[in-house]
Amino acid sequence: MKSLILAIESSCDDSSIAVIDKNTLECKFHKKISQELEHSVYGGVVPELAARLHSQALPSILWQCKEYFNRLCAVAVTNEPGLSVSLLSGISMAKTLASALNLPLIPINHLKGHIYSLFLESKLEKDGGILLVSGGHTMVLYLANDGSLELIARTNDDSFGESFDKVAKMMNLGYPGGLIIENLAKKAQLKNIHFSIPLKHSKELAFSFSGLKNAVRMEILKYENLDEKLKAELAYGFQKSACEHILDKLEKIFHLYKFKNLGVVGGASANLTLRSLLSKLCQKYNCELKLAPLEYCSDNALMIARAAVDAYEKKEFAFIEEDILSPKNKNFSRI
Ligand code: KG4
Ligand code: ZN
Repeated sequence: MKSLILAIESSCDDSSIAVIDKNTLECKFHKKISQELEHSVYGGVVPELAARLHSQALPSILWQCKEYFNRLCAVAVTNEPGLSVSLLSGISMAKTLASALNLPLIPINHLKGHIYSLFLESKLEKDGGILLVSGGHTMVLYLANDGSLELIARTNDDSFGESFDKVAKMMNLGYPGGLIIENLAKKAQLKNIHFSIPLKHSKELAFSFSGLKNAVRMEILKYENLDEKLKAELAYGFQKSACEHILDKLEKIFHLYKFKNLGVVGGASANLTLRSLLSKLCQKYNCELKLAPLEYCSDNALMIARAAVDAYEKKEFAFIEEDILSPKNKNFSRI
């Protein structure tokens, strides 16, 4: 019986392929090649370069898992959202493989994939809040019992992860900025640079990071040159305000929605300051905190493969000739 699903993820700057057993959820293969180093010199992802690097990395990873081809029952691929040229690299490969092996093709929404990073080896649990913090998105959702997703809050401008990237770029620290800023903040000693918490006095259930980012920019302009100590103080002040902003809005949401559990996913959910603040908040509200394994917070094909297991059961297949890059129903409204 063929029970393996091969999944491809290439929505941004990570080329990744995973093979999962749909009956046992066992991961048979998982590999990811990141392009961070190549984009680092530009301080952000360059789409053209990303697509070129995917076209080198994906075939080389696929070659390494060819022993599983004769046991595959489907091919899954991230089809939205993301950089079009990056997504197309994965989609083209998935379509070619699915037609060559005569297998169903399963398109998977990337954000849905992140949610499944909480349930890589277990059944999907519903009736809970989800905080998604990545480079492209910052949102709070409610996953209802019927599988529908209610969008409770999202960012009005930049995302949480993106603001780390931009602040790192302002200080010429490289890309991606998340871990760089987090590590630098640990070296702060004085902790005397403070930034206001965005939308603190607004009841709006939304996030905003562009004002904070500009405040950091203005602060940087006050100094003639930035030494390591000053950079650490800036990183600390910025991270504190960005994390407290998430917590402030979440607390407002907790008052309205009595979440029994909160799942936290996305590349930026690896941030330990954020994790520790979330843990305190959840304790206060008697809410169970579910965190994705650190290794699977950032983009990876295993979360896409896991999402594809449930999609396979529901027969959510696409035609090979379908334009899955721009599906008719663009809404991310159910799991
Ligand atoms: O989920 P992901 O891999 O890609 C997207 O779907 O966007 O998230 C990448 C983002 C980047 O912006 C990166 O700087 C951020 O997650 N990130 C972090 C941390 N690790 C990664 N942000 C804050 N703290 C971190 N430790
Ligand atoms: Zn992502």
